[in-house]
Amino acid sequence: MEIIEKASAKINLGLDVLYKRDDGYHELEMIMASVDLSDYLTFTALDEDKIVITTDNGFLPVDGKNNIYQTIEIIKQHYAITKGVHVDLKKRIPVAAGLGGGSSDAAATFRGLNRLFELNMTYEDMAALSIPVGTDVPYCIYSRTALVKGVGEKVIPLARPIPQCWVVLVKPKLSVSTPKVFARLSLDDVTHPRIDKLQEAIETNDYDMLTRYLGNSLETYTMKKHPVVRQIKEKMLQFGADAAVMSGSGPTVFALCRKQSRAQRVANGLKGFCEEVYVVRTLNQ
Ligand code: C5P
Repeated sequence: MEIIEKASAKINLGLDVLYKRDDGYHELEMIMASVDLSDYLTFTALDEDKIVITTDNGFLPVDGKNNIYQTIEIIKQHYAITKGVHVDLKKRIPVAAGLGGGSSDAAATFRGLNRLFELNMTYEDMAALSIPVGTDVPYCIYSRTALVKGVGEKVIPLARPIPQCWVVLVKPKLSVSTPKVFARLSLDDVTHPRIDKLQEAIETNDYDMLTRYLGNSLETYTMKKHPVVRQIKEKMLQFGADAAVMSGSGPTVFALCRKQSRAQRVANGLKGFCEEVYVVRTLNQ
């Protein structure tokens, strides 16, 4: 039997760093949504007890460094599964981009193995097991517009998806290390987006209000380190985006546009500047 799962990219409409906890992690409050840019994973059970990952992306590790591999190990151990697993990954989400690609693959692996081995895990069960793999994994298990708290383990799906719009994603050619961003962040300097206002904007389906309150506490730090991130945001606004902000710890910046024609204009304007430019829709969930 073959199981196919879709793993969608996430964006942080709001990311607020509240404080540093005693365990070294940062307490966060975020509003997250998923966009229609997805990897596809195909799962097959193997009689032999081994984990095999194949992928069309030549740069990804396929051993214990891979989130998918780690997830399979966790599930196999937790449920004492002696069968092996083959996963084929079609990679479409840019890697190390701030779009949660690796986390979404891990989340799809939880959902996929749940079906493959009929484990009857709830989303809560999967989220609880997933934190060691990555702090965005619990959100990606749900993959629907949500308020996310703690270090990412508290996922509270919102009653409505974000208002329908187009999203332009632009990733400059550089990688950002999330642990380094958090380690070097000075909490005295960070701005605090109004997560409550973002939530209100979504719950009242108010697109204009949503665009006014996009924000990310990590943006200033990453922009100082990589000025190209600021330039992307400025260009997006110059080309007519309704709003633009960095996603996660970067370096991808996303813009929201009500109209498809405007999103296309923003994308065309950025194409000469960056190689990786995508125009996608938000997922209606
Ligand atoms: O999300 P991920 O698990 O990949 O995070 C990588 C690292 O970023 C963590 O090991 C931690 O050092 C830092 N981090 C943090 N606070 C968070 C999320 C991540 O300090 N809420």
